[in-house]
Amino acid sequence: MTKYIINGGKRLNGEVTISGAKNAAVAIIPAALLADGPCRIENVPKIIDVTLQLEILRELGVRIRLLNSTTVEISGEAVGGSKVPYELMRKIRASYYLIGALLGKYHHAEVAMPGGCNFGGIRPIDQHLKGFRALGATIETREGGYIVADAPDGLKGGHVYFDVVSVGATMNIMLAAVLADGQTVIENAAKEPHIVDLANFLNSMGADVKGAGTDIIKIRGVPKLHGGTYSIIPDQIEAGTFMAAVAATGGQVLIKNVIPKHLECITAKLTEMGVEIDEFDDALLVRRMGDLVKTNVKTMPYPGFPTDMQPQLTTALCLAKGTSIITEGVWDNRYRYTEELTRMGANIHVDGKIAVVEGVEELKAAPVRAYDLRAGAAMVIAGLAARGVTQVEQVTNIERGYENLVEKFQAIGADMYRAEIPEGDTSLPEAK
Ligand code: EPU
Repeated sequence: MTKYIINGGKRLNGEVTISGAKNAAVAIIPAALLADGPCRIENVPKIIDVTLQLEILRELGVRIRLLNSTTVEISGEAVGGSKVPYELMRKIRASYYLIGALLGKYHHAEVAMPGGCNFGGIRPIDQHLKGFRALGATIETREGGYIVADAPDGLKGGHVYFDVVSVGATMNIMLAAVLADGQTVIENAAKEPHIVDLANFLNSMGADVKGAGTDIIKIRGVPKLHGGTYSIIPDQIEAGTFMAAVAATGGQVLIKNVIPKHLECITAKLTEMGVEIDEFDDALLVRRMGDLVKTNVKTMPYPGFPTDMQPQLTTALCLAKGTSIITEGVWDNRYRYTEELTRMGANIHVDGKIAVVEGVEELKAAPVRAYDLRAGAAMVIAGLAARGVTQVEQVTNIERGYENLVEKFQAIGADMYRAEIPEGDTSLPEAK
């Protein structure tokens, strides 16, 4: 079993460089299927979810070359057909983008219901399916949880109004619509930076997508897309995670390769909490020397405060003076990790979508679990801030979405390492 061993209680200092955005990469990789020529994608993060997404394309017979550690070339047809194996689909939530990409290019997709992070109970895709139907596809659910989407005569542009703001449904309908016949209008679209990144990628291949980043996206279908070279934007949530870590531990870190505009929703909250943040063109200097103070926050679709930063911010708020109120406005159940923080001495009461955090003087080390990706990032932050040696289990959940997290934290002064510990060994490893 792999664990992170963290000897906490030290301030972070130095510089860290942010990788490409996970939630853009996992959509842009399947989007490359839509092109007739090779797509060279740069700034691809080295994370498990990207590896899985590339594996799915390989299974479909797509040719993939890794040109260097962060550049991948995706070319060729999906000669292996349009059926995605269940075993791969269930490992990654973002495999649902294969439906839009395959339906758009081949007018047929057979995919199992997606898997992914285990927070939030049910994660429906009804809005995705509603959108495909609006473009003329028929959708059938077959035995074994397979969804079969068909449009034998090709997709036709249509009008899609989403009942909820959904990142995945917005991107999936964009994928399906770029090669459809006529214009598609998406209303109540999500506005996250990765929506704009996907639109920019598609447009760089010859698509006609307008309005990405607003709540109405208009897509005029084109007969074909060509290949090209595209660089993925930096990861907003990875940057935010380091910002929250500095807030929790204190210290000063220059966070490089970021788009400060994408981080304003996070910067605003941390500033209220007493963190000093200087903005440069593509970097942020984050400093916390004095006490942290409480704040209230509600997660919302972009440009609101991101739900994917809720566990990390809550962890920092555990150490703030005063009582903070956190409202989860996107997912039904994203507080499971608070049980772990409570075991570290945090004072948190959860009632439905609301968590009330009473700040404490310090957190104490404990063995904790990374229940999901962002919960795992929160455990690392808690371990870095806590006195003593914290062990974080189930770190695969973290490595699904963070590139070299341990090495990046080590480089800014964290005393932590990755340890292989035999099953059943409960002795506490020493800090190195
Ligand atoms: N929803 C529906 N029906 C749908 C789709 C969504 O009711 O068909 C609801 C969900 O239940 C949820 C809300 O709409 O309450 C928002 O869900 P959304 O579709 O936006 O989420 P997602 O696309 O499945 C992506 C990210 C998540 C992130 C959310 C919200 C990817 C691969 N995942 O998920 O990221 O939390 O958007 O911003 O892009 C993460 O990176 O840790 C992560 C979980």
